[in-house]
Amino acid sequence: MAPTAVIDTSDHSGHALDHVSDMVDEVNILKGQAKKGAAAADYLEENSKFDAEKDKTKFRQYMDACDRVKNFYKEQHTKQTVAYNLRARHLFHSKTRDELTVWEAIEKLNSLVDESDPDTEVTQIMHALQTAEAMRRDGKPRWMQCAGLIHDLGKLLYFYDAEGQWDVVGDTFPVGCAFDEKIIYPGSFCDNPDVDDPVYSTKYGIYSQGCGMDKIMLSWGHDEYLYHVAKAQSKLPDEALAMIRYHSFYPWHREGAYRFFMNEKDHEMLKAVNAFNPYDLYSKSDDMPSVEELKPYYIELIDEFFPQKVIKW
Ligand SMILES: [Fe+2]
Ligand SMILES: [Fe+2]
Repeated sequence: MAPTAVIDTSDHSGHALDHVSDMVDEVNILKGQAKKGAAAADYLEENSKFDAEKDKTKFRQYMDACDRVKNFYKEQHTKQTVAYNLRARHLFHSKTRDELTVWEAIEKLNSLVDESDPDTEVTQIMHALQTAEAMRRDGKPRWMQCAGLIHDLGKLLYFYDAEGQWDVVGDTFPVGCAFDEKIIYPGSFCDNPDVDDPVYSTKYGIYSQGCGMDKIMLSWGHDEYLYHVAKAQSKLPDEALAMIRYHSFYPWHREGAYRFFMNEKDHEMLKAVNAFNPYDLYSKSDDMPSVEELKPYYIELIDEFFPQKVIKW
């Protein structure tokens, strides 16, 4: 696909999912850089010597990338309603989709996405290993390495129950309360029926101030799906579960929205998510790890946190 083309949301192949997912990451990387650039420009403008050309370029790249993901977000923001989210959770609890070890799940996701996309630069298994290896190099705890390894495994959902790409990847946000202006493309919620709901359209909606993020229904996707799987079947600590659940919740962990729902515990969880984020976004340019060499280390790591080995997906 040409770099300026918009995303085709009707394609249900693994390649299409991978492409959308990569574009979403690119937007988040550029958005971070544009933000930093803007802050630097603000500061330096006062000193009147600053040439902001470089930051303007970054900002333009960010806007171009946004244009490409625009129709993806339009569909997601229209369809992620309270009703859909209740249905998705009901469907999730109603059956077991598969029984696989975590390593088998990693291999399955890799083959499903890969098989339709032989040219992909960073495969699913590479992204999993690069994220975990970068953490390991930095001496991060084993539970965090495990979270890094598995954080995107929920994308398997695309090959089970998902209706499209919009309920698997992309930034996440709460449903059941007003959609915050800090969500990417806030204007694209206009066709979501919840914006006209007398309760869902209010600041706190069906929640209350300080109720805690555990109580918030986040838009359904790979993060939320894996969080429920890992919460029920792993020994991972809360910080690791938070890294999994909130890693695409950019409006919260980066933009500062919805902080009024947080309780004391959530402040610790937010620190964990912010510690996780750079490894997810910036490890893709690292060297390609050898799957065969690393497999024994990660099998042992997985066994430590998923002692029953076979997981119900
Ligand atoms: Fe992800
Ligand atoms: Fe990721």
